Amino acid sequence: MGIETSKPAVGIGLIGSGFMGKCHANAFRSVGGLFDLPVRPVAEILADMTDEVAQRSAAALGFKRSTSDWQKLVDDPAVDIVAITAPNVLHEPMALAAIAAGKTVYCEKPLSTTAASARKMTEAAEAAGVVTMVGFNFLRNPMIGLAREIITSGEIGEITGFRGRHAENYMSSPDVPHSFRTAIEGGGALADIGSHIISMARYLLGPIADTCADSHTIVRDRPVSAGSSHRAPVEVDDMTHALVRFDSGVAGSLEANWAASGRTMDLSFEITGTKGAVAFSQEFMNELRLYTGVGARAGFKRIEAGSQHPPYGQFCPAPGHHLGFNDLKVIEVAQLVDAHASGGTGFPDFREALVVQETVEAMQESARSGAWVTVPGVS
Ligand SMILES: NC(=O)c1ccc[n+]([C@@H]2O[C@H](COP(=O)([O-])OP(=O)(O)OC[C@H]3O[C@@H](n4cnc5c(N)ncnc54)[C@H](O)[C@@H]3O)[C@@H](O)[C@H]2O)c1
Repeated sequence: MGIETSKPAVGIGLIGSGFMGKCHANAFRSVGGLFDLPVRPVAEILADMTDEVAQRSAAALGFKRSTSDWQKLVDDPAVDIVAITAPNVLHEPMALAAIAAGKTVYCEKPLSTTAASARKMTEAAEAAGVVTMVGFNFLRNPMIGLAREIITSGEIGEITGFRGRHAENYMSSPDVPHSFRTAIEGGGALADIGSHIISMARYLLGPIADTCADSHTIVRDRPVSAGSSHRAPVEVDDMTHALVRFDSGVAGSLEANWAASGRTMDLSFEITGTKGAVAFSQEFMNELRLYTGVGARAGFKRIEAGSQHPPYGQFCPAPGHHLGFNDLKVIEVAQLVDAHASGGTGFPDFREALVVQETVEAMQESARSGAWVTVPGVS
């Protein structure tokens, strides 16, 4: 990991080596070559469920050692940053143990399974004074930074509306089996991907104050495991639509949908203002659409990502060559390692992720009651 051996080492302990574990490992491995960091990440130890899986993954992903006991990883004196990519229900015990050991904690979203659990983690981290960060990697896209700049500069005028969506199709088929995502504590589509569009909405327009939501389970039962003929009921949402009112007074709507046939990664938004609009979809993550025009040639124009949009240039000097999903994780890890080395604060930290979780829960409560619900902690 890294190319600069004279820099002090920062030991990485990675828990989990699935989809996100591989993505974290790639980011820690490459970040030192792309960003000028004050320290050098070193892949110390990887934990997974069995010795065999942990050993195989550690070898493949470049970690020195492996274990099937994540507590040993947390307690390991060579580990400075604990990266948690295990299923959601394990985030709380793993993070609390890492906080107790004084480690920087990098946890995947959603922070936990309930807001109460996320609050416990947040308060423990703040009391211990450790650096935390949560994997809302889509915020790291230079095009999202540009959208935020356009909104806050007033270029599209006073903001008048928000329409957001996170739609994918990975749960469309009734043959996709149950997993931690469909367990009650998994939180369904709203917690799994709704958390991303909520974090995006907050990043761009500030806190969501009130919400009124409607949830549906499209696939009523699923195989208990891959290929099984035994099916069990699905007790979480596949699709939620929510009306939202921001603290600023702006009104809008958002959708979380993991059974959206044809959609692979439509984490998207359209934000309108009195003088223009911005629109984005992660399916075209190197483009931002901006409307500011009046007159005969008015229309949305396409802004293409390039080195004029930091930190694109860290990866590539040429426009049109494009960043990818894994690069967003590298940018996130650069900011994590920098916060760890400087004793600064990570963003989004546990407190930010707690409010995202509280917003998810307010939507779940509204979907049950049919009433508008105020997000706790927001006026
Ligand atoms: N930020 C993103 O864009 C993004 C994308 C996908 C998933 N996620 C989040 O990442 C987390 C993991 O999701 P995933 O898709 O990588 O899941 P996954 O099933 O692919 O990987 C989970 C890993 O955790 C391991 N694991 C399970 N129990 C363990 C234990 N007791 N000790 C050690 N390891 C254990 C599994 O063996 C597996 O390697 C979830 O919280 C999910 O919400 C985030």
